[in-house]
Amino acid sequence: MRVFVTGGAGYIGSVTAAELIGRGHEVVVYDNLEKGHREAVPAGATLVVGDLADGGRVEEALRRQGAEAVIHFAGYSLVGESVAHPGRYFRNNVGNGLNLLGAMRRAGTSRIIFSSTAAVYGSPRAVPITEEEPAAPINPYGESKRFFETALSRFHAAYGWDCVSLRYFNAAGATAALGEDHDPETHLIPIVLRAALDGRGGVDVFGDDYDTPDGTCVRDYIHVTDLAAAHVLALECGGDRAYNVGVGRGYSVLEVIEAARRVTGARIEARAAPRRPGDPPALVASAERIRRELGWSPRRDGIEGIVESAWRWMREHPGGYGGGGKLSL
Ligand code: UFG
Repeated sequence: MRVFVTGGAGYIGSVTAAELIGRGHEVVVYDNLEKGHREAVPAGATLVVGDLADGGRVEEALRRQGAEAVIHFAGYSLVGESVAHPGRYFRNNVGNGLNLLGAMRRAGTSRIIFSSTAAVYGSPRAVPITEEEPAAPINPYGESKRFFETALSRFHAAYGWDCVSLRYFNAAGATAALGEDHDPETHLIPIVLRAALDGRGGVDVFGDDYDTPDGTCVRDYIHVTDLAAAHVLALECGGDRAYNVGVGRGYSVLEVIEAARRVTGARIEARAAPRRPGDPPALVASAERIRRELGWSPRRDGIEGIVESAWRWMREHPGGYGGGGKLSL
């Protein structure tokens, strides 16, 4: 299939683009490189540097490729930042997202897979979370993603589009070539591994008085290649659907730090710090629906294997994509 991947120079987008190419799809990556990295665009994909704010450019690129499907990764994705700067999130995730849908309408592309998030559930009433749980986001990031899901349902109803929202839990890990390189980095696993690599400083644990087994937040960490595989399966879906994509097992912040200590052999100090605004205590998926309907299942479901792959990538790329060479150990 000819697949147009917005945000394909970013972390999950680049791994998915590589997976698509590996399976014989034709990929155009559309990315403004604000967060993405040119070096992360896999060989075999065509990169168009452009912004979703520019609907005309999106339309032209869709037409030129003859795009049969869009996978829409581009957007902002940080809970804390969304609380501090809500306008950015609505402008980019909603406003620019609607530009994309308009360009698709004009270009005649009517199939879309969307990077949604567990954050649409807010603080769920029960974990594991099924898709029946009402959407009740508690931060602007989750609200912006929820709005776009709703827009897709409406486009399905009005125009018969095929739309799949994949609600990601916590993407983590790396392939040999592609990994996580954000600036600033706010995600737990790369922060913990950075502390191990630098051999100094510790990790702030944001809140240790949550109503969870050890008081720290629990998340469902899913290997990025398993997440990528879900997109490839979703390309074949018709209708209007939403799927959780997670492993179904939660790990606390302290458990992740402990796993990183085992993998790296470093001490890694954990320091109690105040709660981070917008963080729900526990997010763990029930992924039964995607397993049942699409036959998806995660291949790598242990936290140690996930952390280990991220650690390998970080040691190979100590300065991220742009900087520094391999670290000799
Ligand atoms: N955390 C720390 N210290 C840090 C960094 C993070 O204690 O230095 C904690 C956070 O408070 C949270 C957990 O580690 O409890 C995981 O935090 P991340 O920032 O790695 O990930 P989030 O759970 O905040 O968010 C991620 C994605 C979102 C997605 C969400 C769904 O960034 O896009 O997972 O679970 F919506």
